[in-house]
Amino acid sequence: MPPHCANAKERLIVALDVADVAQARAIVARLGEAVCFYKIGYRLGFAGGLDLARDLLDAGGRVFLDFKLHDIGNTVKDGVAGLARLGADFLTVHGFPQTMKAAVEGRGLAPTRILAVTVMTSYDDADLEEAGYGYDVADLVRRRALQARAAGCDGLITSPQEVAALRALVGPDMLLVTPGIRPAGADKGDQKRVMTPAEAIAAGADYLVVGRPVIGADDPRGAARAIVGEIEQGLALRARSG
Ligand code: C5P
Repeated sequence: MPPHCANAKERLIVALDVADVAQARAIVARLGEAVCFYKIGYRLGFAGGLDLARDLLDAGGRVFLDFKLHDIGNTVKDGVAGLARLGADFLTVHGFPQTMKAAVEGRGLAPTRILAVTVMTSYDDADLEEAGYGYDVADLVRRRALQARAAGCDGLITSPQEVAALRALVGPDMLLVTPGIRPAGADKGDQKRVMTPAEAIAAGADYLVVGRPVIGADDPRGAARAIVGEIEQGLALRARSG
């Protein structure tokens, strides 16, 4: 993998959380040059989103396929190999050691970075106990973060609150990509533990995933530009403290 480096604009990933490709293309057109990196989840992925991903990549954009893959190793390896051939920049898998190792193997020499989801943020300690785990959320996040690094994954999806602790745990080389971002004064929606873009970047996040505060804004392009401005502030804060 080449060393990581991204400017403020490249660190904003806009989640295309819409039902169909026509709506997604309309958002991309409205955002224009204010945004260059898009996240496609499986809702859109199953509705023609891979063709959209190809078009965005062909146009010089960047794409995060948030498919959270998890299956037997062989299936994950073959599935990831196909998605890596597409040339997507980021791809998520669940943080199970077999799955993560298979994804890294399937990626091969392609530039697609494999990001592990440690523990879904909708799970609490009681959910893990119900599912048969002997760890609480904090311990399982730490355990899987280290397993992700050992498996050769390139980064982790993390809540903004975990960024600083995970950065200290896994070191500077793993990418930390965080949803749960709300610009100062924005509606939180169903996100409970949020941070502003500047706070998350200052805490050590590399990339921010933002959906509704951009795609639901009256002026999406203005909203995206304001977030990039906040990312610049966060980078300046980080440079001063580092
Ligand atoms: O609209 P909003 O900014 O809350 O969108 C955040 C995006 O990040 C959505 O695509 C959501 O599915 C995703 N996400 C999240 N929390 C996680 C993992 C992914 O909000 N723990």
